[in-house]
Amino acid sequence: MLSVEDLSISFGGLDALSGLSLEVTEREIFALIGPNGAGKSTVFNVVTGLYRPSRGRVTFRGDDLLALAPHEIARRGVGRTFQNTEVFRQLTAIDNVLVGRHAHLRSGVLRGAFGLASVRREEAEARELARRLLARLGLAEVADTEAGSLPLGYQKRLELARALAAEPRLLLLDEPAGGLNPTETQTLMKLIQRLRDESGLTLLLVEHDMELVMGISDRVAVLDYGRKIAEGKPREIAADPAVVEAYLGSGDGA
Ligand SMILES: Nc1ncnc2c1ncn2[C@@H]1O[C@H](COP(=O)(O)OP(=O)(O)OP(=O)(O)O)[C@@H](O)[C@H]1O
Ligand SMILES: [Mg+2]
Repeated sequence: MLSVEDLSISFGGLDALSGLSLEVTEREIFALIGPNGAGKSTVFNVVTGLYRPSRGRVTFRGDDLLALAPHEIARRGVGRTFQNTEVFRQLTAIDNVLVGRHAHLRSGVLRGAFGLASVRREEAEARELARRLLARLGLAEVADTEAGSLPLGYQKRLELARALAAEPRLLLLDEPAGGLNPTETQTLMKLIQRLRDESGLTLLLVEHDMELVMGISDRVAVLDYGRKIAEGKPREIAADPAVVEAYLGSGDGA
């Protein structure tokens, strides 16, 4: 579904990614792990069109993503959340979800041509859908609360709801459990599994919480200094000496 081939990108003199290749299969939960600064978020930023690599290819369901702008990539079905949770703080939770929905809707000009009644109906449908999505993520009771005043765990779920509103086929989650307590992390794990099992989503996940990674991933790739040092099933990865060394060597302790 997603294919990354021989990807390289550097910032100043620093090689953030060097010759990275990955293949993510449809309906897979694929985790990207590695010490701080290994290049994990950079992969997401290249795939979603925010960074332009110096070398390599990125294709999604056959389309060359490097030829597309971020909004075009989103419209083709690639959604994401950010490591530093980014909700629109001044907007209510439901309006945050509606913003995500708009990435999915066709041109407003065309819709306008069908008259006010149809626009109103579409608006009402979008709200109904947003409420259902919030309910699914356990956010029904805060639908009309300003996003900026919500606790972090809620904001993270809200960001996820906003990404889901655009109906992605591939969802990139950058440290979804960051800052969550163990109970919230458990809930998140189940949710991610349901997204795959019930909605058929494909997930590419960056995460430091090893219990989560090892608990739900089909495959794991390990980055260190912008290079892939291991790839395999969670059990193989946990037993790989190069992986253990990369983590201990970094003093990351994750
Ligand atoms: N826009 C940028 N400008 C300059 N350097 C950058 C930029 N983005 C990333 N880098 C550098 O590239 C390297 C990889 O960064 P990246 O954010 O991808 O790491 P990461 O694996 O996501 O780390 P973390 O686990 O801490 O989030 C780091 O050394 C980082 O400082
Ligand atoms: Mg990161």
